[in-house]
Amino acid sequence: MMRLDGKTALITGAARGIGLAFARAYAAEGARVALADIDIARAHDAAQGIEGAIAVELDVTRQDSIDTAVDHVVDAFGRIDILINNAAIFTAAPITEITRDDYARAFDVNVSGTLFTLQAVARHMIEAGVQGRIINMASQAGRRGEPLVAVYCATKAAVISLTQSAALNLIPHGITVNAIAPGVVDGEHWDGVDAFFAKYEGKAPGQKKAEVGAAVPFGRMGVPEDLTGMAVFLASDEARYIVAQTYNVDGGQWMS
Ligand SMILES: NC(=O)c1ccc[n+]([C@@H]2O[C@H](COP(=O)([O-])OP(=O)(O)OC[C@H]3O[C@@H](n4cnc5c(N)ncnc54)[C@H](O)[C@@H]3O)[C@@H](O)[C@H]2O)c1
Repeated sequence: MMRLDGKTALITGAARGIGLAFARAYAAEGARVALADIDIARAHDAAQGIEGAIAVELDVTRQDSIDTAVDHVVDAFGRIDILINNAAIFTAAPITEITRDDYARAFDVNVSGTLFTLQAVARHMIEAGVQGRIINMASQAGRRGEPLVAVYCATKAAVISLTQSAALNLIPHGITVNAIAPGVVDGEHWDGVDAFFAKYEGKAPGQKKAEVGAAVPFGRMGVPEDLTGMAVFLASDEARYIVAQTYNVDGGQWMS
């Protein structure tokens, strides 16, 4: 018996990185998984390698896209038991250089995208009587500010807050909402972060990654597979009494 046997999951931003690792881990535990991403070509390629998986086009900044994607997954799988709100973008700039466009885009993807995908799936779960699981991807960036990362940090603080409110509102329906706060996880996301710090702090390519990895108490940056245990656990029956929490999975960087 696998831990997610018979379950169905919608994972946003699953074409690469952490979302893709979650999709593979869920499938390995018996779930049928929908990989939803704005990069549908890459989501499609990724789904090919995962048993029972489908790819779904989704732009979390567009309500019509969210509604269509949720309908698509319900049509394909019959219901959605688990949602992981994983899609997000990184942005960074000194306070004096933040633009309204960057600010609006980051909040649109990371905060509005999380809330309105959660809303659409929660409506489905309530209507279908599914005692579902919703997991939002926060970040250690949501635990405190950083001098060059004000907007991204604020979006992730908002995700932690939304997780708490949504959890309290949805638990009477038997739906749990929790979040995972990773630290620094290697991959394309961090390639972009590294390039940013190379520009603003005059570092050589790869230098910032090496520095942050060395600063993790565990001794290295995370890899997406370091997070899959928590994602499987939160979706499993073992986590049924866990409500409104944000778990740090970061090699010891943040304690709360
Ligand atoms: N990598 C890290 O160090 C780290 C640390 C803390 C938190 N996180 C969080 O974990 C999650 C996954 O991170 P990752 O490193 O895999 O990121 P990533 O950038 O590698 O992947 C993000 C995915 O989201 C998709 N996406 C972007 N905009 C979208 C939109 N509008 N609609 C749908 N999909 C969209 C991208 O196409 C991509 O496939 C994110 O929420 C991120 O903020 C990552």
